[in-house]
Amino acid sequence: MAIRTMRRQVLLFILVFYFGSVAGQVSYSIPEEMPKGSFVGDIVQDLGLDVKRLRLGKARIYTGDGAEYIELNKERGVLLVKERIDREVICAQTVPCALHFQVILENPMEFYSITVEVTDINDNAPIFKRGEMKFRISESAVTGAVFVLEQAIDLDVGPNGLQSYLLNPTDNFVLRLQNQADGTSMVEMVLQNPLDREKDDHLSLVLTAVDGGDPQLSGTVLINVNVLDVNDNAPVFTQKIYKSTLLENLAAGTVVITVSASDLDEGFNGKISYAVLNSVDVSSYVSVSADSGVIHAVRSLDYEQIKDFQFRVKAQDGGSPPLSSNVTVKILVQDQNDNPPQVLYPVQTGGSVVAEMVPRSADVGYLVTKVVAVDVDSGQNAWLSYKLQKATDRALFEVGLQNGEIRTVRQVTDKDAVKQRLSVIVEDNGQPSRSATVIVNVAVADSFPEVLSEFTDFPHDKEYNDNLTFYLVLALAVVSFLFITSLVVIISVKIYRWRQSRVLYQSNLPVIPYYPPRYSDTLGTGTLQHVYNYEVCRTTDSRKSDCKFGRAGSQNVLIMDPSSTGTMQRIQNEKSILDEPDSPVEVRLI
Ligand SMILES: *[C@@H]1O[C@H](CO)[C@@H](O)[C@H](O)[C@H]1NC(C)=O
Repeated sequence: MAIRTMRRQVLLFILVFYFGSVAGQVSYSIPEEMPKGSFVGDIVQDLGLDVKRLRLGKARIYTGDGAEYIELNKERGVLLVKERIDREVICAQTVPCALHFQVILENPMEFYSITVEVTDINDNAPIFKRGEMKFRISESAVTGAVFVLEQAIDLDVGPNGLQSYLLNPTDNFVLRLQNQADGTSMVEMVLQNPLDREKDDHLSLVLTAVDGGDPQLSGTVLINVNVLDVNDNAPVFTQKIYKSTLLENLAAGTVVITVSASDLDEGFNGKISYAVLNSVDVSSYVSVSADSGVIHAVRSLDYEQIKDFQFRVKAQDGGSPPLSSNVTVKILVQDQNDNPPQVLYPVQTGGSVVAEMVPRSADVGYLVTKVVAVDVDSGQNAWLSYKLQKATDRALFEVGLQNGEIRTVRQVTDKDAVKQRLSVIVEDNGQPSRSATVIVNVAVADSFPEVLSEFTDFPHDKEYNDNLTFYLVLALAVVSFLFITSLVVIISVKIYRWRQSRVLYQSNLPVIPYYPPRYSDTLGTGTLQHVYNYEVCRTTDSRKSDCKFGRAGSQNVLIMDPSSTGTMQRIQNEKSILDEPDSPVEVRLI
């Protein structure tokens, strides 16, 4: 444009040089974008001409470059807009913007220099070249971080040109304009509040550029900010503590409980894996699935060994570095009725028989003994009840349901058998219940021989006793035989010697009888000497099964052990056997 203007002025200079001087000049000012035919200026009046002269002088406009925006109306002597004038096309950002041309008259030739200044109107809004700006910003970006934005362009000039920018919303970013050497401003947005992807992973902002025209025009551009995740959240368990009960004896692999944690981060930063923490003991009981948080019993548990345990489970995300948290898990093992009652008393040892003695004088309600049992389970599973299952005479005894006490229910009579055999069943209260059976032998008798005679009726005892009696009789016979034989031999020898001496000395001495001293005791009592030794076991309290050694007078328990070889232990009432109150209380017959 500048080149065109220059050429036009050079040409004008040449014309003036050849044909004469510039007769006059005038300037007008019109706004751009005036419609065709709009009035520009009255040159007849402004240059002191008349309409006739214009007509006769063939007045015309000379622009030099051919682009004619202005025309001359010779009838009215005025300049009019010939074509739409766009200031931005003619002058761009050049200010002022003017059209220079000449009005040429002939006869005589005259030049009039006309300048039409085209003023700017606000016919252009600020625009952004791109429709959208995109940013990917980490949520860890620090406040003060600067992001350069694209500038807007406004083709208008002066006050109609670009004036300022606005950014909305301003929760996280504020706008900053930096003046540059070329007069424009660098547009930046500055982070003023940290981003939080967990709150907002995407921000949409609008940048608006406004000009100073009236009315004001503006242009906008969308700024999309994708907030990138960083591992800034640790996993959080859904509960503060986890509690569960687990039946004992359940198979390995039983699900105990499921722990669950969540992580607000995304991707690997939010991918959680679970692990049991730091307990060697617990890892033999339970394990946790790393992915699901399901806690798998590793083996079946025995309530009698472990009633409860606790451990911590860690949840860790996959970030780098990873974040973790942990939670306590408490497990109560629940008892199952897996143990039957165990009878402590009467002791059921193989072979030996313990009998409780009941005197025939016993009253109704006489405490015979007490069945003592325990159950290692707990609660209902260890709650025991006692029932009489079988009895030689059901009408004679009863068993306390709760305490296992065996008592007589009626007066004992002479007709009652000495040997009474009771079968007591001990049941726990579990579901289903478990039970144990105990045999209680009762001897209804006042004296030991009575008891002995009855209880030796046991087939194996009888056989044993028969054998023993046979050997005793045999031994007695042999001893007696040897004794008599030796006595006869000794007397015979003595008589023989006496006769010899009488024959030899023919003495008159009186006869003195001779008694060998070592046989005097034997001859005096006429019995064999036996060694007796015995122990007494009696129950002073039927709750206790332990034995006490005591005097024979209070003893009422009989123990026979046929399994011992060659030795028979008998506990018996001393009075009834030996009739000797101060003798030892127990007898061992060898
Ligand atoms: C378990 O969490 C507590 C805080 O709740 C922490 O102090 C401890 O270090 C964590 N233990 C492990 C092994 O991660």
